[in-house]
Amino acid sequence: MDIKKLLQKMTLEQKIAQLCQFSARCLVADETGELTGPAKDLNLSMKDIACCGSTLTFADANSMIAIQKKHMELDPNKIPLLFMHDVIHGYRTIYPIQLALGASWDADIVKKCSRMSARESAAGGVHVTFAPMVDLVRDARWGRCMESCGEDPYLNSVMARAQVEGYQGNLDSDEDICACVKHFAAYGAAESGKDYNTVDMSEYNLRENYLCAYKSAVEAGAQMIMASFNTINGVPSIANKWLLKDVLRDEWGFDKPIISDYSAFAELVNHGYCSNEKECAKAALDATADIEMMSVCYLRNLTSLLEEGRIKEEQIDECVLRILELKDKLGLFENPYRGANPEKEKALALCPEHRAIAREAAQKCAVLLKNDNILPLNKNTKNIAVIGPWSDVGMLGEWPAHGEPSETVTVIEGVKNALNNASVTMAKGCNGVLNELPDDELINEAVCAAEKADAVILCIGEHSKQSGEAHSRADITLSPAQIKLVKEVCAVNKNSVCVLFCGRPIVLTDIIDTVPAIFVAWQPGTEAGNAVADLIFGDVNFEGRLPMTFPLHLGQVPIYYNQMNTGRPKLVPNQIFTSGYIDYPNDPLFPFGYGLSYTSFEISSPVLSKTQMNKGDKVVVSARVKNTGAVAGKTVVQLYIRDLFASRTRPVKELKGFEKVYLEPGEEKEVSFEITEKELAFHTASGKFEAEAGDFHIFVALDSTSKDLVTLTLK
Ligand code: BGC
Repeated sequence: MDIKKLLQKMTLEQKIAQLCQFSARCLVADETGELTGPAKDLNLSMKDIACCGSTLTFADANSMIAIQKKHMELDPNKIPLLFMHDVIHGYRTIYPIQLALGASWDADIVKKCSRMSARESAAGGVHVTFAPMVDLVRDARWGRCMESCGEDPYLNSVMARAQVEGYQGNLDSDEDICACVKHFAAYGAAESGKDYNTVDMSEYNLRENYLCAYKSAVEAGAQMIMASFNTINGVPSIANKWLLKDVLRDEWGFDKPIISDYSAFAELVNHGYCSNEKECAKAALDATADIEMMSVCYLRNLTSLLEEGRIKEEQIDECVLRILELKDKLGLFENPYRGANPEKEKALALCPEHRAIAREAAQKCAVLLKNDNILPLNKNTKNIAVIGPWSDVGMLGEWPAHGEPSETVTVIEGVKNALNNASVTMAKGCNGVLNELPDDELINEAVCAAEKADAVILCIGEHSKQSGEAHSRADITLSPAQIKLVKEVCAVNKNSVCVLFCGRPIVLTDIIDTVPAIFVAWQPGTEAGNAVADLIFGDVNFEGRLPMTFPLHLGQVPIYYNQMNTGRPKLVPNQIFTSGYIDYPNDPLFPFGYGLSYTSFEISSPVLSKTQMNKGDKVVVSARVKNTGAVAGKTVVQLYIRDLFASRTRPVKELKGFEKVYLEPGEEKEVSFEITEKELAFHTASGKFEAEAGDFHIFVALDSTSKDLVTLTLK
């Protein structure tokens, strides 16, 4: 398709319509031919929607085909609609939430999951997914922790790339969909963990920590980017010319569409940044925003802004071109329906191959936090009690697209599937609501079940609906009801294992000394119960590691490992006039990078190939890791670096590489990482990204707390 020629043919009205995105419900008239619901709220007419450029949130391939067919009849230029959807962690088969994927430290499985959901959703008619969400998060109160791969810029960047590659492939097949990276930028740094809240931070912090993963996704070829709801240093992202034009377009070379978040154009008025919707349209266009999602600032105001000479038609043309180019790239002008195929959609939904990927992912994401030698449970156990509010609940996690909790394997089902001849009983113990107080009747029932059982599986933590967008929590401890339940059950049954479901780190201090064993299953998706049973009965080993610090106390939040040293670091407990608290230590309950296994590992001190290097040189650091236990297992070898003195203060430690290593019992392997200037570089006081001469501490470790280091000097 000759896009430029097409553009010339289009009227101004038609061009502006290309920039509009409305939900599929807006595009479907009711039986009387009237537009109702959200279309009415936006005061849309049939004329407004006849030429609109894209739509979001539609039911399935059949509805996609119907909507596109109607659109092709209405649109005078026969420009197909782009269909977008929130395919966040699966479409119909749901794999673990992103925070869990971060815990896998396994880019291959993450890519496989994205690939699988691209196949399913492409058959459902999706062209663009609003994923990956790569917002770095350090505050566990924020509800959308669950959508992020955690607190580390490097880990997030690796996972961002894996997801983009998984969704998009080479964008040359009908099973590839476009990735829309979100939410640009620093949405996860919302003050106090409250969703949509203000972000105020230095450019240094932004570039060193928050921008890395978006950049990685852009470099991996992501086809779209969504601006975030928040302000950055006083300017809302969708109107932030510095962020969108100077950094994203001019510096990073991103020449593809930028979309707003839901009604974020109109919210510029609420921010107090624009006095009315006309000013919103002007500010967003000047920032080079292309697609307006679910508000009508562009639609109602670009014409008059142009007539008044406040914007140029070329600005509109540039946006339209970016959108048309994407449509052309996807081959929509030749086949507006692309991958949409109701039969294929049905055949792929929850197919055995996809279920197997979801199960494998859920196994790899789980993190074993404590095990006083009671796990794995013996498969010959005769009486098992599954206790807790989430025993029989399908734990899909928020944003489950078309996943159904009823089609999800619960823990009780998973345990029954794993054991042929055991008697499996269940007791809820509490209802799982937030801040729930103990109900003695429910707890007694659970305690009775626990007393009679040989082993107990306690399903505690958060329901899928207790995290996610607009689901921030001020208190991330367990409810009094869950704490009492755990304590009373563990008191009567020493073989009690806790399975923690959550979309964020939970403060476990109240129960950690009581429980003999606990692991984080996160929100594991369609195959939750089977994966949990695989781990509990030792059919597979734990290999996940924490992608976010688990605090010892709520008041430590935000807490993260890659903090600055400060002028007065607390080096020993209770040291006064140092940076910390007088009532609690600085240390978390479980650090970033931590996780146990059914075997044990030892790692040697790191060794450098040479202790001095020049810029342009390569140095290799290596360590020997050994499986010192009795079963095979995988561990994650992690490379951390600290720059001791620099033109800006540097974190106490930063992850710069990792490798998952499989070892048979007694087996030992050498793991090496290359260090070049890139691993030592940062955004210096002069604004450049480069390494400064000096000493660096290098750690090769099994979590972020290691003190075993070697010193490398950059000359
Ligand atoms: C969310 C986005 C999402 C969009 C469309 C917004 O409320 O912030 O992450 O992609 O809705 O559903």
